[in-house]
Amino acid sequence: MNILVLGGGGREHTLCWKISQSEQCQKLFAAPGNAGTANCAINLPIGVTDFDGIKNAVLEHKIELVIVGPEEPLVLGIHDFFLRDPDLAKVGVIGPQKRAATLEGSKAFAKEFMNRHQIPTAAYAEFTPETIQEGEAFLEQSNPPYVLKADGLAAGKGVLILEDLQEAKKELRQMLLESKFGEASSKVVIEEFLSGIELSCFVLTDGENYVTLPMAKDYKRIGEGDTGLNTGGMGAISPVPFVTEAFEKKIRDRIVKPTIEGLKKDGIPYKGFIFIGLIKVGEDPKVIEYNVRMGDPETEVVLPRVENDLVTLFQAVNEGSLDTVQLEVRKEVAATVMAVSRGYPEAYQKGKIITGLDQDKMIFHAGTLLKENKVITSGGRVLAVTSFGENHNEAVQSSYQTLSKIDFDGIHYRKDIGFDL
Ligand code: AMP
Ligand code: GLY
Repeated sequence: MNILVLGGGGREHTLCWKISQSEQCQKLFAAPGNAGTANCAINLPIGVTDFDGIKNAVLEHKIELVIVGPEEPLVLGIHDFFLRDPDLAKVGVIGPQKRAATLEGSKAFAKEFMNRHQIPTAAYAEFTPETIQEGEAFLEQSNPPYVLKADGLAAGKGVLILEDLQEAKKELRQMLLESKFGEASSKVVIEEFLSGIELSCFVLTDGENYVTLPMAKDYKRIGEGDTGLNTGGMGAISPVPFVTEAFEKKIRDRIVKPTIEGLKKDGIPYKGFIFIGLIKVGEDPKVIEYNVRMGDPETEVVLPRVENDLVTLFQAVNEGSLDTVQLEVRKEVAATVMAVSRGYPEAYQKGKIITGLDQDKMIFHAGTLLKENKVITSGGRVLAVTSFGENHNEAVQSSYQTLSKIDFDGIHYRKDIGFDL
Protein backbone atom coordinates (compact mmCIF):
# COMPACT_ATOMS: atom_id res chain seq x y z
CA MET A 1 0.00 0.00 0.00
CA ASN A 2 0.97 3.62 -0.40
CA ILE A 3 1.63 5.50 2.82
CA LEU A 4 2.01 9.18 3.76
CA VAL A 5 3.87 10.50 6.79
CA LEU A 6 2.96 14.06 7.78
CA GLY A 7 5.73 16.21 9.20
CA GLY A 8 9.33 17.07 8.54
CA GLY A 9 11.43 16.48 11.63
CA GLY A 10 13.57 13.76 13.19
CA ARG A 11 10.48 11.93 14.38
CA GLU A 12 9.11 11.78 10.85
CA HIS A 13 12.41 10.70 9.31
CA THR A 14 12.53 7.86 11.84
CA LEU A 15 8.95 6.88 11.01
CA CYS A 16 9.79 6.87 7.28
CA TRP A 17 12.98 4.88 7.87
CA LYS A 18 11.06 2.23 9.82
CA ILE A 19 8.03 2.13 7.51
CA SER A 20 10.24 1.81 4.43
CA GLN A 21 11.60 -1.45 5.88
CA SER A 22 8.14 -3.02 5.61
CA GLU A 23 7.34 -5.19 2.62
CA GLN A 24 3.78 -3.98 2.84
CA CYS A 25 4.81 -0.48 1.95
CA GLN A 26 4.81 0.15 -1.77
CA LYS A 27 5.25 3.87 -2.16
CA LEU A 28 6.10 6.06 0.80
CA PHE A 29 5.52 9.82 0.83
CA ALA A 30 6.46 12.50 3.34
CA ALA A 31 4.86 15.96 3.54
CA PRO A 32 6.78 18.16 3.70
CA GLY A 33 9.63 15.83 4.79
CA ASN A 34 13.29 16.85 4.80
CA ALA A 35 16.58 15.84 3.16
CA GLY A 36 16.59 12.64 5.25
CA THR A 37 13.10 11.49 4.33
CA ALA A 38 14.08 12.07 0.69
CA ASN A 39 16.35 9.01 1.06
CA CYS A 40 13.49 6.64 1.88
CA ALA A 41 10.32 8.47 0.75
CA ILE A 42 9.06 10.89 -1.87
CA ASN A 43 8.78 14.38 -0.43
CA LEU A 44 5.67 16.38 -1.25
CA PRO A 45 5.79 20.16 -0.76
CA ILE A 46 2.65 20.34 1.38
CA GLY A 47 2.33 21.83 4.86
CA VAL A 48 0.95 19.69 7.70
CA THR A 49 -2.09 21.92 8.21
CA ASP A 50 -2.94 22.27 4.50
CA PHE A 51 -5.80 19.78 4.69
CA ASP A 52 -6.99 20.38 1.12
CA GLY A 53 -3.45 19.95 -0.21
CA ILE A 54 -3.13 16.72 1.77
CA LYS A 55 -6.47 15.49 0.42
CA ASN A 56 -5.37 16.10 -3.17
CA ALA A 57 -2.10 14.24 -2.58
CA VAL A 58 -3.87 11.30 -0.95
CA LEU A 59 -6.21 10.94 -3.91
CA GLU A 60 -3.55 11.53 -6.55
CA HIS A 61 -1.10 9.02 -5.10
CA LYS A 62 -3.73 6.49 -3.96
CA ILE A 63 -2.56 6.68 -0.36
CA GLU A 64 -4.28 4.25 2.01
CA LEU A 65 -2.60 5.10 5.29
CA VAL A 66 -1.60 8.46 6.78
CA ILE A 67 0.62 8.76 9.85
CA VAL A 68 0.40 12.15 11.52
CA GLY A 69 3.68 13.15 13.17
CA PRO A 70 3.12 16.50 14.92
CA GLU A 71 0.25 17.60 17.18
CA GLU A 72 -0.93 20.66 15.29
CA PRO A 73 -2.90 18.93 12.50
CA LEU A 74 -4.40 16.56 15.09
CA VAL A 75 -5.54 19.39 17.35
CA LEU A 76 -6.98 21.10 14.25
CA GLY A 77 -8.94 17.93 13.47
CA ILE A 78 -7.23 16.27 10.51
CA HIS A 79 -8.56 12.84 11.45
CA ASP A 80 -12.11 14.22 11.67
CA PHE A 81 -11.56 15.90 8.29
CA PHE A 82 -10.75 12.49 6.77
CA LEU A 83 -13.74 10.79 8.40
CA ARG A 84 -16.15 13.49 7.22
CA ASP A 85 -15.04 13.36 3.59
CA PRO A 86 -16.56 10.47 1.58
CA ASP A 87 -13.46 10.41 -0.67
CA LEU A 88 -11.16 9.99 2.33
CA ALA A 89 -13.25 8.08 4.86
CA LYS A 90 -11.62 4.74 3.96
CA VAL A 91 -8.07 6.04 4.41
CA GLY A 92 -6.52 4.90 7.69
CA VAL A 93 -5.27 7.75 9.87
CA ILE A 94 -2.82 7.10 12.70
CA GLY A 95 -3.41 9.95 15.12
CA PRO A 96 -6.49 10.69 17.23
CA GLN A 97 -9.52 12.76 16.38
CA LYS A 98 -9.90 16.32 17.58
CA ARG A 99 -11.66 15.54 20.85
CA ALA A 100 -8.92 13.17 22.03
CA ALA A 101 -6.24 15.55 20.75
CA THR A 102 -7.58 18.01 23.34
CA LEU A 103 -5.59 15.96 25.86
CA GLU A 104 -2.59 17.81 24.44
CA GLY A 105 -4.43 20.91 23.20
CA SER A 106 -5.84 21.87 26.61
CA LYS A 107 -4.05 21.33 29.92
CA ALA A 108 -7.34 21.90 31.79
CA PHE A 109 -9.07 19.18 29.72
CA ALA A 110 -6.19 16.78 30.47
CA LYS A 111 -6.29 17.56 34.20
CA GLU A 112 -10.06 17.04 34.35
CA PHE A 113 -9.62 13.73 32.50
CA MET A 114 -6.97 12.56 34.98
CA ASN A 115 -9.03 13.56 38.00
CA ARG A 116 -12.13 11.87 36.62
CA HIS A 117 -10.23 8.62 36.15
CA GLN A 118 -8.05 8.80 39.28
CA ILE A 119 -4.83 9.00 37.31
CA PRO A 120 -2.03 10.34 39.56
CA THR A 121 -0.95 13.87 38.67
CA ALA A 122 -0.10 17.16 40.40
CA ALA A 123 -2.94 18.92 42.25
CA TYR A 124 -4.18 21.94 40.30
CA ALA A 125 -6.69 24.72 39.83
CA GLU A 126 -7.66 26.60 36.65
CA PHE A 127 -8.28 30.32 36.18
CA THR A 128 -9.61 32.70 33.52
CA PRO A 129 -9.51 36.53 33.23
CA GLU A 130 -12.79 36.60 35.18
CA THR A 131 -11.29 34.65 38.11
CA ILE A 132 -7.86 36.29 38.23
CA GLN A 133 -8.36 37.46 41.82
CA GLU A 134 -9.03 33.90 42.94
CA GLY A 135 -5.89 32.94 41.00
CA GLU A 136 -3.78 35.45 42.91
CA ALA A 137 -5.27 34.31 46.22
CA PHE A 138 -4.53 30.70 45.21
CA LEU A 139 -0.88 31.60 44.60
CA GLU A 140 -0.69 33.35 47.98
CA GLN A 141 -1.85 30.17 49.70
CA SER A 142 0.50 27.93 47.70
CA ASN A 143 4.15 27.18 48.34
CA PRO A 144 6.91 27.98 45.84
CA PRO A 145 7.99 27.02 43.27
CA TYR A 146 4.81 28.08 41.46
CA VAL A 147 3.94 26.18 38.28
CA LEU A 148 1.88 28.21 35.75
CA LYS A 149 0.71 26.61 32.53
CA ALA A 150 -0.98 28.21 29.56
CA ASP A 151 -3.98 25.99 28.84
CA GLY A 152 -3.48 25.76 25.07
CA LEU A 153 -0.65 24.91 22.68
CA ALA A 154 2.25 27.34 23.09
CA ALA A 155 5.04 25.63 21.14
CA GLY A 156 6.50 24.14 24.33
CA LYS A 157 6.94 27.57 25.92
CA GLY A 158 3.73 27.86 27.92
CA VAL A 159 4.98 26.43 31.23
CA LEU A 160 6.57 28.76 33.80
CA ILE A 161 8.16 27.60 37.04
CA LEU A 162 8.78 30.53 39.39
CA GLU A 163 10.25 30.91 42.86
CA ASP A 164 8.98 34.39 43.62
CA LEU A 165 5.35 35.06 44.54
CA GLN A 166 5.23 38.58 43.11
CA GLU A 167 6.72 37.38 39.85
CA ALA A 168 4.23 34.52 39.70
CA LYS A 169 1.35 36.97 40.17
CA LYS A 170 2.77 39.26 37.49
CA GLU A 171 3.14 36.37 35.04
CA LEU A 172 -0.39 35.20 35.81
CA ARG A 173 -1.69 38.68 34.97
CA GLN A 174 0.34 38.78 31.76
CA MET A 175 -0.89 35.38 30.70
CA LEU A 176 -4.56 36.02 31.43
CA LEU A 177 -4.93 39.73 30.73
CA GLU A 178 -2.19 40.53 28.21
CA SER A 179 -2.29 37.32 26.14
CA LYS A 180 1.35 36.49 26.90
CA PHE A 181 0.92 33.23 24.96
CA GLY A 182 -1.91 34.50 22.75
CA GLU A 183 -5.17 32.57 22.87
CA ALA A 184 -3.31 29.69 24.60
CA SER A 185 -3.11 31.60 27.88
CA SER A 186 -6.72 32.78 28.02
CA LYS A 187 -6.98 30.03 30.62
CA VAL A 188 -4.17 29.16 33.04
CA VAL A 189 -3.62 26.02 35.09
CA ILE A 190 -1.70 26.48 38.35
CA GLU A 191 -0.16 23.26 39.57
CA GLU A 192 1.52 21.77 42.59
CA PHE A 193 5.27 21.53 41.93
CA LEU A 194 6.49 17.94 41.67
CA SER A 195 10.08 17.11 42.37
CA GLY A 196 11.61 14.07 40.73
CA ILE A 197 13.16 12.63 37.59
CA GLU A 198 11.24 12.69 34.32
CA LEU A 199 10.69 9.99 31.74
CA SER A 200 8.43 9.35 28.77
CA CYS A 201 6.07 6.46 28.21
CA PHE A 202 4.64 5.70 24.75
CA VAL A 203 1.49 3.78 24.00
CA LEU A 204 0.03 2.76 20.66
CA THR A 205 -3.71 2.16 20.84
CA ASP A 206 -6.65 1.32 18.59
CA GLY A 207 -8.99 2.74 21.23
CA GLU A 208 -9.78 -0.69 22.66
CA ASN A 209 -6.43 -2.49 22.87
CA TYR A 210 -2.96 -1.11 23.29
CA VAL A 211 0.73 -1.90 23.36
CA THR A 212 3.16 -0.10 25.64
CA LEU A 213 6.27 0.81 23.65
CA PRO A 214 9.74 1.09 25.20
CA MET A 215 10.15 3.92 27.71
CA ALA A 216 12.63 6.70 27.03
CA LYS A 217 14.19 9.69 28.70
CA ASP A 218 15.04 12.86 26.88
CA TYR A 219 17.50 15.63 27.72
CA LYS A 220 15.64 18.90 27.32
CA ARG A 221 18.14 21.56 28.36
CA ILE A 222 20.63 23.07 25.94
CA GLY A 223 23.59 22.90 28.32
CA GLU A 224 25.63 20.10 29.78
CA GLY A 225 24.58 18.90 33.21
CA ASP A 226 20.97 19.81 32.33
CA THR A 227 21.54 23.56 32.49
CA GLY A 228 20.40 26.52 30.40
CA LEU A 229 17.32 27.01 28.27
CA ASN A 230 14.75 24.37 27.46
CA THR A 231 14.87 22.94 23.94
CA GLY A 232 12.76 20.48 21.99
CA GLY A 233 15.23 17.82 23.17
CA MET A 234 19.01 17.41 22.84
CA GLY A 235 19.19 13.64 23.07
CA ALA A 236 17.40 10.59 24.39
CA ILE A 237 18.01 7.10 25.67
CA SER A 238 15.94 3.93 25.86
CA PRO A 239 15.43 1.90 28.01
CA VAL A 240 15.43 4.04 31.15
CA PRO A 241 17.70 2.44 33.76
CA PHE A 242 15.76 3.61 36.82
CA VAL A 243 12.56 2.03 35.50
CA THR A 244 12.63 -1.25 37.41
CA GLU A 245 10.06 -3.97 36.77
CA ALA A 246 8.13 -2.86 39.86
CA PHE A 247 8.11 0.78 38.75
CA GLU A 248 7.06 -0.15 35.24
CA LYS A 249 4.19 -2.17 36.65
CA LYS A 250 3.01 0.92 38.54
CA ILE A 251 3.10 2.91 35.30
CA ARG A 252 1.11 0.26 33.47
CA ASP A 253 -1.45 -0.32 36.24
CA ARG A 254 -1.95 3.20 37.55
CA ILE A 255 -1.48 5.25 34.41
CA VAL A 256 -1.53 3.44 31.06
CA LYS A 257 -4.49 1.15 31.75
CA PRO A 258 -6.69 3.82 33.38
CA THR A 259 -5.88 6.19 30.51
CA ILE A 260 -7.16 3.75 27.88
CA GLU A 261 -10.11 2.73 30.08
CA GLY A 262 -10.85 6.41 30.71
CA LEU A 263 -10.97 7.19 27.00
CA LYS A 264 -13.38 4.31 26.53
CA LYS A 265 -15.60 5.35 29.46
CA ASP A 266 -15.72 8.90 28.15
CA GLY A 267 -16.62 7.64 24.67
CA ILE A 268 -13.52 9.21 23.13
CA PRO A 269 -12.23 7.18 20.17
CA TYR A 270 -8.44 7.03 19.87
CA LYS A 271 -6.29 5.53 17.15
CA GLY A 272 -2.68 6.46 17.45
CA PHE A 273 0.19 7.17 19.77
CA ILE A 274 -0.14 8.52 23.30
CA PHE A 275 2.99 10.05 24.79
CA ILE A 276 2.69 10.25 28.55
CA GLY A 277 5.18 12.61 30.18
CA LEU A 278 5.88 11.16 33.63
CA ILE A 279 7.76 12.15 36.72
CA LYS A 280 9.03 9.72 39.36
CA VAL A 281 8.17 11.19 42.74
CA GLY A 282 9.69 8.96 45.41
CA GLU A 283 8.74 5.51 44.13
CA ASP A 284 5.56 6.63 42.39
CA PRO A 285 4.88 7.73 38.81
CA LYS A 286 2.76 10.83 38.20
CA VAL A 287 1.61 12.32 34.92
CA ILE A 288 3.08 15.69 33.93
CA GLU A 289 1.31 15.87 30.59
CA TYR A 290 -0.27 13.96 27.73
CA ASN A 291 0.82 14.39 24.13
CA VAL A 292 -1.15 12.83 21.31
CA ARG A 293 1.86 11.97 19.17
CA MET A 294 5.32 10.49 19.52
CA GLY A 295 8.11 12.49 21.16
CA ASP A 296 11.04 13.97 19.33
CA PRO A 297 13.87 12.89 19.85
CA GLU A 298 12.37 9.96 21.80
CA THR A 299 11.08 8.43 18.56
CA GLU A 300 14.68 8.20 17.38
CA VAL A 301 15.43 5.70 20.16
CA VAL A 302 12.03 4.05 20.62
CA LEU A 303 11.28 2.99 17.03
CA PRO A 304 14.72 1.49 16.31
CA ARG A 305 14.14 -0.79 19.33
CA VAL A 306 10.76 -2.00 18.05
CA GLU A 307 11.35 -5.15 16.03
CA ASN A 308 7.80 -5.51 14.69
CA ASP A 309 6.86 -4.44 11.19
CA LEU A 310 5.49 -0.95 11.83
CA VAL A 311 2.96 -1.16 9.01
CA THR A 312 1.52 -4.33 10.57
CA LEU A 313 1.16 -2.45 13.85
CA PHE A 314 -0.55 0.48 12.13
CA GLN A 315 -2.92 -1.81 10.26
CA ALA A 316 -3.86 -3.44 13.54
CA VAL A 317 -4.56 0.03 14.97
CA ASN A 318 -6.72 0.78 11.98
CA GLU A 319 -8.67 -2.47 12.19
CA GLY A 320 -8.97 -2.48 15.97
CA SER A 321 -7.01 -5.71 16.33
CA LEU A 322 -3.96 -4.64 18.32
CA ASP A 323 -4.78 -7.45 20.79
CA THR A 324 -3.53 -9.93 18.20
CA VAL A 325 -0.10 -8.30 18.04
CA GLN A 326 2.81 -9.20 20.27
CA LEU A 327 5.29 -6.37 20.63
CA GLU A 328 8.92 -7.38 20.19
CA VAL A 329 11.59 -5.13 21.59
CA ARG A 330 15.30 -5.26 20.95
CA LYS A 331 17.18 -5.70 24.23
CA GLU A 332 20.13 -3.46 23.41
CA VAL A 333 20.26 0.11 24.60
CA ALA A 334 19.62 2.91 22.13
CA ALA A 335 20.90 6.47 22.47
CA THR A 336 20.43 9.46 20.23
CA VAL A 337 22.40 12.72 20.27
CA MET A 338 20.95 15.83 18.62
CA ALA A 339 23.22 18.14 16.66
CA VAL A 340 21.88 21.69 16.66
CA SER A 341 22.70 25.05 15.08
CA ARG A 342 24.81 27.49 17.10
CA GLY A 343 22.50 29.82 19.02
CA TYR A 344 19.56 27.40 19.29
CA PRO A 345 17.08 27.56 21.06
CA GLU A 346 17.43 31.29 20.47
CA ALA A 347 18.29 32.89 17.11
CA TYR A 348 20.45 30.78 14.78
CA GLN A 349 21.51 30.72 11.14
CA LYS A 350 20.26 28.37 8.45
CA GLY A 351 21.56 27.25 5.08
CA LYS A 352 24.88 25.73 6.23
CA ILE A 353 26.21 22.83 4.17
CA ILE A 354 26.35 19.54 6.10
CA THR A 355 29.19 17.10 5.40
CA GLY A 356 29.97 13.60 6.65
CA LEU A 357 26.49 12.19 6.19
CA ASP A 358 27.68 9.35 3.98
CA GLN A 359 28.00 6.80 6.79
CA ASP A 360 26.05 3.59 7.25
CA LYS A 361 24.60 4.78 10.57
CA MET A 362 21.23 5.83 11.94
CA ILE A 363 21.47 9.53 11.10
CA PHE A 364 17.97 10.99 11.37
CA HIS A 365 17.44 14.41 9.83
CA ALA A 366 15.48 16.98 11.81
CA GLY A 367 16.08 20.41 10.27
CA THR A 368 17.61 19.76 6.85
CA LEU A 369 16.83 20.62 3.27
CA LEU A 370 18.11 19.50 -0.13
CA LYS A 371 19.41 22.40 -2.19
CA GLU A 372 21.25 21.89 -5.48
CA ASN A 373 22.07 18.34 -4.43
CA LYS A 374 23.58 19.48 -1.17
CA VAL A 375 22.15 18.88 2.28
CA ILE A 376 21.88 22.14 4.19
CA THR A 377 20.63 23.09 7.65
CA SER A 378 17.10 24.47 7.85
CA GLY A 379 16.31 24.43 11.56
CA GLY A 380 17.61 24.67 15.10
CA ARG A 381 17.68 20.94 15.65
CA VAL A 382 19.48 19.54 12.63
CA LEU A 383 20.33 15.83 13.02
CA ALA A 384 19.74 13.09 15.56
CA VAL A 385 22.36 10.36 15.53
CA THR A 386 21.19 7.08 17.04
CA SER A 387 23.31 4.09 18.04
CA PHE A 388 22.89 0.80 19.82
CA GLY A 389 25.15 -0.50 22.56
CA GLU A 390 25.39 -3.11 25.29
CA ASN A 391 24.95 -0.27 27.77
CA HIS A 392 24.18 3.45 27.69
CA ASN A 393 27.75 4.56 27.62
CA GLU A 394 28.58 2.33 24.67
CA ALA A 395 25.56 3.56 22.71
CA VAL A 396 26.24 7.23 23.42
CA GLN A 397 29.94 6.93 22.59
CA SER A 398 29.08 5.27 19.31
CA SER A 399 26.86 8.25 18.37
CA TYR A 400 29.69 10.65 19.26
CA GLN A 401 31.96 8.63 16.99
CA THR A 402 29.54 9.10 14.09
CA LEU A 403 29.10 12.80 14.93
CA SER A 404 32.85 13.37 14.94
CA LYS A 405 32.76 12.83 11.16
CA ILE A 406 29.80 15.16 10.58
CA ASP A 407 30.24 18.88 10.24
CA PHE A 408 28.44 22.13 9.46
CA ASP A 409 29.21 25.69 10.39
CA GLY A 410 28.04 26.19 13.98
CA ILE A 411 27.44 22.51 14.82
CA HIS A 412 26.81 22.00 18.52
CA TYR A 413 25.77 18.98 20.57
CA ARG A 414 25.74 18.04 24.21
CA LYS A 415 28.75 15.93 25.11
CA ASP A 416 27.09 14.41 28.18
CA ILE A 417 23.93 12.62 27.05
CA GLY A 418 23.30 9.88 29.64
CA PHE A 419 25.58 11.58 32.17
CA ASP A 420 23.13 11.06 35.00
CA LEU A 421 22.55 7.34 34.57
P1 AMP B 1 4.64 20.33 30.18
O1 AMP B 1 4.54 21.18 28.95
O2 AMP B 1 3.37 20.26 30.97
O3 AMP B 1 5.27 19.00 29.92
O4 AMP B 1 5.75 21.04 31.10
C1 AMP B 1 7.03 21.31 30.62
C2 AMP B 1 8.06 20.94 31.65
O5 AMP B 1 7.82 21.68 32.85
C3 AMP B 1 8.01 19.49 32.08
O6 AMP B 1 8.74 18.66 31.24
C4 AMP B 1 8.60 19.56 33.46
O7 AMP B 1 10.01 19.60 33.41
C5 AMP B 1 8.11 20.88 33.98
N1 AMP B 1 6.88 20.71 34.79
C6 AMP B 1 5.62 20.72 34.33
N2 AMP B 1 4.74 20.54 35.33
C7 AMP B 1 5.46 20.41 36.45
C8 AMP B 1 5.12 20.20 37.83
N3 AMP B 1 3.86 20.11 38.25
N4 AMP B 1 6.12 20.09 38.71
C9 AMP B 1 7.42 20.21 38.30
N5 AMP B 1 7.80 20.42 37.04
C10 AMP B 1 6.84 20.51 36.11
N1 GLY C 1 10.84 15.55 23.44
C1 GLY C 1 9.64 16.12 23.93
C2 GLY C 1 8.57 16.25 22.96
O1 GLY C 1 8.57 15.69 21.87
O2 GLY C 1 7.59 16.93 23.26
